[in-house]
Amino acid sequence: MTERTTSPEGIEEIPLWDPALRLFHWALVVCVVTSWGLGRFGPSIMTLHFYFGYAVIALLTFRLIWGLFGPASARFSHFLYGPGATLRYAAQIPRRAPSYWPGHNPVGALSVFALLAVLTAQAATGLFADPDDFINVGPLADMVSREAALGAASWHYRLSLAVLALVGLHLAAIAFYRLWKGEDLVRPMITGRKAVRRDRQA
Ligand code: HEM
Ligand code: HEM
Repeated sequence: MTERTTSPEGIEEIPLWDPALRLFHWALVVCVVTSWGLGRFGPSIMTLHFYFGYAVIALLTFRLIWGLFGPASARFSHFLYGPGATLRYAAQIPRRAPSYWPGHNPVGALSVFALLAVLTAQAATGLFADPDDFINVGPLADMVSREAALGAASWHYRLSLAVLALVGLHLAAIAFYRLWKGEDLVRPMITGRKAVRRDRQA
């Protein structure tokens, strides 16, 4: 991961997203979309929904490990910004110019943390959920009181709406960067390479 291409304007293309992070992202997309679709529109016996839910748990566990011990740009500390930096970045978002940010930018980072947290809560409530239909009981529902298991099912439903909203926001932000700021964030998530401003590199 050392090969760099420099352009005269001080913008250079560097290897930013490592292969494991990219694989994580696209596997998460498949598993979240499938879990969501099966949960809402799938067969009434939700075995397959559970399996995709377990896959999401495995992916989130990997992301936690990668966020603590992975390569620099994947680490949580790399995109954890204070209120000052976040507001400064937010103020210049409307500019019609690419950010050339070397990682998740301070505002995008908020949505990354929100997505990871809401997905964790979504999967966790699923494990304890007992919707009282005598079929689809979460595997850990027996470990908690009946009220808690019913509550988990109701939170599982509410959180599924939050996932929908956050993914919608995520896609809208990516479209905004592409169409308004002229910056393609998707290609770097596929190839790993992104054009960044040299003075902003960590
Ligand atoms: C269920 C749908 C999706 C979920 C749950 C999701 C989740 C995430 C998460 C958690 C990250 C942070 C990556 C990291 O762990 O560091 C991320 C980043 C990203 N996602 Fe998605 N994503 C979804 C769909 C998509 C789709 C369909 C696209 C492409 C059109 C996309 C493009 C991107 C890009 C480009 C980034 C990097 C943004 C940046 O440069 O900061 N995502 N996504
Ligand atoms: C992030 C991953 C997950 C997503 C996106 C998701 C999404 C959903 C959705 C949209 C529903 C339908 C809610 C409704 O219409 O009432 C549902 C139901 C359900 N899910 Fe999940 N789920 C996930 C993970 C899990 C896991 C890991 C389990 C347990 C192993 C689980 C267990 C259940 C159960 C028991 C129901 C039925 C609840 C009811 O009918 O009220 N889910 N899920």
